[in-house]
Amino acid sequence: MKRLLLAIAVIFAVACSKTTSNQTNEVAIIPQPLSLSKHNNAFVVLPSTTIVCDVEEFAPIVKYSQEYMKVGVATKVPKNNYISISLDKLLAEEEYHLAVSNDSVQIVAGGYGGAFNGVQTLFQLLPSEVYTKQMRLPAVVKGCNVKDRPKFAYRGFLLDVARTFMTKENVLRYIDYIAYHKINKLHWHLTDNQGWRIEIKSHPNLAKVGGFRGGDSPINAALGKWDEKYGGYYTQEEISEVVEYAKVRNIEIIPEIDLPGHSGALAAIYPEVLCKKADGTPRNTGIVVCATKESNYLLLEEILAEVCALFPSKHFHIGGDEVNMSQWKSCPDCSAWLKKNGYTDGHKLEDMFIGRIQTILAKYGKTPSVWNEAAFGGGLSKEAWVHGWKSPKVCKQVMAEGYPTIFMPQQFFYFDMRQSEHENGAIWGGCFDIRKVYSFDFAKEGFTPEEVAQVKGFEAAAWSEVFLSQGGDKSIDFIEYQTFPRLCALAELAWGKNGSGEWQEFHNRLYKSHYDRMADMGLNFRITPPNVKYENGLLSIEKIDNSAVYYRMEGSDKRLSYRGAIRTSQPGRYLFWAEYRGAKSPEVAHSSQYKTIKPKVTLTSSIPDQPKHGYHRVADYYMSMRTSRTYKEGDWFLFEFEEPVECRSIEFVTGSHAVPSRLITKGYLEVSHDGKTFHHVAELNYGRAKLLNPKPIKAARIVATSDDVPGSQLRICSPIIYPKW
Ligand code: ACM
Ligand code: ZN
Repeated sequence: MKRLLLAIAVIFAVACSKTTSNQTNEVAIIPQPLSLSKHNNAFVVLPSTTIVCDVEEFAPIVKYSQEYMKVGVATKVPKNNYISISLDKLLAEEEYHLAVSNDSVQIVAGGYGGAFNGVQTLFQLLPSEVYTKQMRLPAVVKGCNVKDRPKFAYRGFLLDVARTFMTKENVLRYIDYIAYHKINKLHWHLTDNQGWRIEIKSHPNLAKVGGFRGGDSPINAALGKWDEKYGGYYTQEEISEVVEYAKVRNIEIIPEIDLPGHSGALAAIYPEVLCKKADGTPRNTGIVVCATKESNYLLLEEILAEVCALFPSKHFHIGGDEVNMSQWKSCPDCSAWLKKNGYTDGHKLEDMFIGRIQTILAKYGKTPSVWNEAAFGGGLSKEAWVHGWKSPKVCKQVMAEGYPTIFMPQQFFYFDMRQSEHENGAIWGGCFDIRKVYSFDFAKEGFTPEEVAQVKGFEAAAWSEVFLSQGGDKSIDFIEYQTFPRLCALAELAWGKNGSGEWQEFHNRLYKSHYDRMADMGLNFRITPPNVKYENGLLSIEKIDNSAVYYRMEGSDKRLSYRGAIRTSQPGRYLFWAEYRGAKSPEVAHSSQYKTIKPKVTLTSSIPDQPKHGYHRVADYYMSMRTSRTYKEGDWFLFEFEEPVECRSIEFVTGSHAVPSRLITKGYLEVSHDGKTFHHVAELNYGRAKLLNPKPIKAARIVATSDDVPGSQLRICSPIIYPKW
């Protein structure tokens, strides 16, 4: 009778799972397990199913699992209808075996990490609805046996909350997202030039004042709109809550206090940490901590001691990246130290500084982690973890120094970079989507198997300079869009890229199964766009997955379903995108959509230019020319065209092209059709103004209506002009 009921339940559950989206019955796990064998038995989770686990240490995992699966617990192993989680000390800490039968799901793990990983695999064998925490029962667990362990001990993700602040609730959400992908380290970038995000009780102003920029804050709002106060910070209680939440999810948090560079927020609160000027007088702005002031080490110890106490990790990231040595070189004390020790290279000061901080950390039981720049001084403990961000080649050099190395070359793993040419995002480190992340290959990068065996792991970085300009909740949506699904590929690399390693096979698992999971997780993930083809007057779409394709005509928001090839002589007017359960691809179009024109133009300004980056470069349509000073209210930039420009759109951009910095915060655009009289046509938004279908433009002028913050340098781009169809 029981078996009959079970059989009915299976049929019912399978039927139910078919009603949600287009999930297949394929076993498709990301990251791919080391060993996976499928079979035809299946377990059915019923309201009466129980979890049984007598390992006290795993109690948080049982509670966590119950949140998702809504099942009870049993103290003794029942005859059937149970999920067991048990310990086998012969397995490695993060290793697990998972066996599905008609009667049970049995997870055997080497430790807490293995048990958690086993539960994540179980989730991926259930309907994706499990991630909503409202999964309907009965629910089928697909039949398979798994023997699995990660190849790399460090599978990390960097969250930069210094540039774009993320609330505690959003950090917790992110921890869930990465935990679903068996990521086990969160590198929490808590301080930078633009903000100090962690409460320090002995120095409360660091967070209370330094957690904000713009408005009345002493922090120069290098990013975003400096006239609007922006920011936030975490109290120590909140930090502890996040640490505990992550721990349950097998995630170790490595905090970063970025020193001695990237210290603008610290220096805004305590300018006395800066080097003296060459004439011995105090400096009041800067981003590098003086390496020879004894008082700095006392202050830093007070700060670091509090941070050390909040994070159980043995590892503490102290930065060490991108130190501009010029203030050290002009500092009477730092230059005297170099001279006394017979050095000329400023890096010696960084080595000394890192050594001093290492000694402080050791008092609190911590080992430093650093960026790759700090790995070559000789004084860094060989236990220190080094994050190689510059390139695979630099990672190789770091490994040659004998350091446990975490691979995060910007060209593959900096997720602030845009994913295709016409999307938002930074560009300095490259332009790449998930395919490139997945393509990372040690052999292609020149690593021997012996070297690979020494690699500590991988990390992806969600630097957030580019996120802020999305505005409010959109910033958080954009972080998700930039991170997923690229992080799925990183997770698979860090797990060991088991299976074929072929893109197509991975992509199949991704879109056939994991798109649904990400949708149910609540992620705003990016869908890889379809390909656009134009041949013999026919515009068509080549689908690459099971998402639906839509299009709109340029200038209209009307969403049209793509049903087949479109006959047109103006293919660039059609903008296509793919959608899957609320997630979207970027818009894609025929190349003619993106073609710009470069009519003859000159640029003049009330502000002189920097000769090396002069305004004359507008003739060649350079992106980004630089001013020699910042701006005041009333300063202007004038673009004069040789002939009135006819176009379908024209955009004027102040500031860096990709990142909202060095821009005119408040100002307007005025245009002239005759070159004499000007009409106010738009306010600047994040330093930009775009006009659609304007009357022919002879000249355009950007006028600032407020002063800039002191010290910030302004940039100006050439106009971006799209021709009439
Ligand atoms: C870095 O990108 N400066 C680590
Ligand atoms: Zn100094």
